[in-house]
Amino acid sequence: MSIGSTLIYRPSSIVDRLRWAEVFEAEGRIEVELGSGDGGFLAEYAGRHPERSFLGVERLLGRLRKLDRKGRRMGLMNLRLLRIEAAYLVEYLLPAGGVEALHIYFPDPWPKRRHWRRRLIQPSFISAAAHALGAGGRLYFRTDDRGYWAWAQEVCGQCALLRAVETPAELRAVETDFERDFRARGLEIHTLAYERRMAAPCIRDQTSMMGPSGSW
Ligand SMILES: C[S@@+](CC[C@H](N)C(=O)[O-])C[C@H]1O[C@@H](n2cnc3c(N)ncnc32)[C@H](O)[C@@H]1O
Repeated sequence: MSIGSTLIYRPSSIVDRLRWAEVFEAEGRIEVELGSGDGGFLAEYAGRHPERSFLGVERLLGRLRKLDRKGRRMGLMNLRLLRIEAAYLVEYLLPAGGVEALHIYFPDPWPKRRHWRRRLIQPSFISAAAHALGAGGRLYFRTDDRGYWAWAQEVCGQCALLRAVETPAELRAVETDFERDFRARGLEIHTLAYERRMAAPCIRDQTSMMGPSGSW
């Protein structure tokens, strides 16, 4: 893989699923960070793992450009960036079973009850995410918001394709930009990790506005 004038990938279609060989000019293990922000985590983690390929997904162009500059400065041959809405990417563009890990760090917690339906983590999203992961693929989540953490745990727990696992210490050690800030302010960070099982479908489209089980 070579570094061109930009790491930002512009797909020829936004309705056909991505072909990794076109995105990375290579096959292999693909990890995706949704909402990569300024990219502190992704740049460091991609630098530590040159044998894997990483896709940073962000809807704000300014943040994507910042990570683009950082990635090129660091000579990260294994990093590509995509400006798109994360839920759309997961539902419609990620190839089934084509992702080794999905990293979701500090998505907006939407703490007010009437806004819960705006949260990224929803049963239909988690079902699509589980289908994008290959068997043994991992979903990693971090938040400072205890309510969102409990919500995510319940939603993921309802997905029969996923089983809870530990976040590897090596991954946990790499902080995100928001995480560094939250820790400096003394806030507690909550993590989740799930592994994709071999079979069994998720319960899809249970996007209850009352919470994942209607219990909140
Ligand atoms: C709170 S920041 C966290 C950034 C980074 N993960 C970190 O921990 O430092 C959330 C980021 O996700 C992006 N974002 C929010 N919703 C998104 C969506 N639906 N699709 C793509 N990016 C999104 C925001 O623009 C923002 O950069």
